[in-house]
Amino acid sequence: MTLPGAPFLARRGAGLELDGHSLDELARRFGTPLFVYSRRAMRAAFDAYEQALRGRPHLVCYAVKANSNLAVLQTFARAGGGFDIVSAGELARVLAAGGEPARVVFSGVGKTRAEMRQALQAGVRCFNVESEGELAPLNEVALELGVRAPVSLRVNPDVDARTHPYISTGLKANKFGIAHDKALVAYRLAAALPGLQVVGIDCHIGSQITQVAPYLDALDRLLDLVEAVEAAGIAIRHVDVGGGLGITYTDEAPPAASDLVARILERLDARGHGQREVLFEPGRSLVGNAGVLLTEVLYLKAGQDDSAEGDDSARSFCVVDAAMNDLVRPAMYQAFMAIEPCVRRPGAGTTWDVVGPVCESGDWLGRDRRLAVQPGDMLAVLSAGAYGMTMASNYNSRPRAAEVMVDGDRVHLIRKREEVSTLFADERLT
Ligand code: LLP
Repeated sequence: MTLPGAPFLARRGAGLELDGHSLDELARRFGTPLFVYSRRAMRAAFDAYEQALRGRPHLVCYAVKANSNLAVLQTFARAGGGFDIVSAGELARVLAAGGEPARVVFSGVGKTRAEMRQALQAGVRCFNVESEGELAPLNEVALELGVRAPVSLRVNPDVDARTHPYISTGLKANKFGIAHDKALVAYRLAAALPGLQVVGIDCHIGSQITQVAPYLDALDRLLDLVEAVEAAGIAIRHVDVGGGLGITYTDEAPPAASDLVARILERLDARGHGQREVLFEPGRSLVGNAGVLLTEVLYLKAGQDDSAEGDDSARSFCVVDAAMNDLVRPAMYQAFMAIEPCVRRPGAGTTWDVVGPVCESGDWLGRDRRLAVQPGDMLAVLSAGAYGMTMASNYNSRPRAAEVMVDGDRVHLIRKREEVSTLFADERLT
């Protein structure tokens, strides 16, 4: 079986390695829970988009929410990438990591005036406006600053991305974007406001998408609008097709980024929009398979042998030191994430529920996993580079994990393990 994350993630003998670094050694050196990322894997994922877009006006804007560690952002800034942000906090991170504000697009349904001001002062490339109601405040803030705010309207194309309902965003039922049939009116309004400058059109239909068809459906809907808006005398420079490309967690077979891009460019050409600048906002597909979460096995609680088939008391628990606060995807979306021993033991193993120490029954990382393990062993939760650390919390007053970046021969601690004292440093006794 190929591992999700191959070729950067590979077995050598019994040991699991990320870009040639033993994960067992890294876990013992830096302690657990520990996120480990491969810079070369991130760079390869980014280059796949870039190569497919060569010769076309384009910008690949990494969706910061997937993994916002400064060293991760630095990787894409150095590669010439742009950024898709959704808060002033993400903007500050991008700037701190050396990202260029002129390559930043600002998405999100609830931008505050303060955030608009900061983004305008920084000089972001554009605001992906998600509702008509956002236009007037943005216009006002821009006029106060004596600038024009570049805007792209995020249109809800009402297509089904065929993904998990929690991460599908392009349906009418979702809170995101401006309804397709209201978009022309919104464009006219935007074009009439002196503090705004229309520059583009945008959509994002969901996440962990494993087919090309929903993208092409959305693109067609977008291009229909572009034609109508331009016919109304409002120029649209770029088309932003959003992010959302899926990765392999287990047996999913999403298209390669190069295929997705090629099909999108083909459709642009076919509809006579070949020279239009195209933007992408990938998050997961750039970092997801470039990272793992390492955790130590604390205890094994074997189920009772005499219980009936299907009886939950028969479940066996492998208690590890990482929990839902470190990696919430399994608990929140019932997401399957592969779990591999860092050093394989001989034997067929036992079927375990891999659970964390948090006081919630929903605190699990994997169910029904066949593993040969002993306390003290290190496990790797695969494909944890996206929406792992960024969704981590301090629930149960658990300090957040450390993060390590491997880069060729080098190993960098890119975030030290949080200390308990900092968890309540801002609290006061009365
Ligand atoms: N652009 C916009 C406007 C977005 O809302 C998102 C993700 C992206 C780009 C990047 O999407 P990606 O390429 O990563 O699929 N926490 C969930 C995923 C939430 C995605 C939210 N929006 C998970 O762990 O599956």
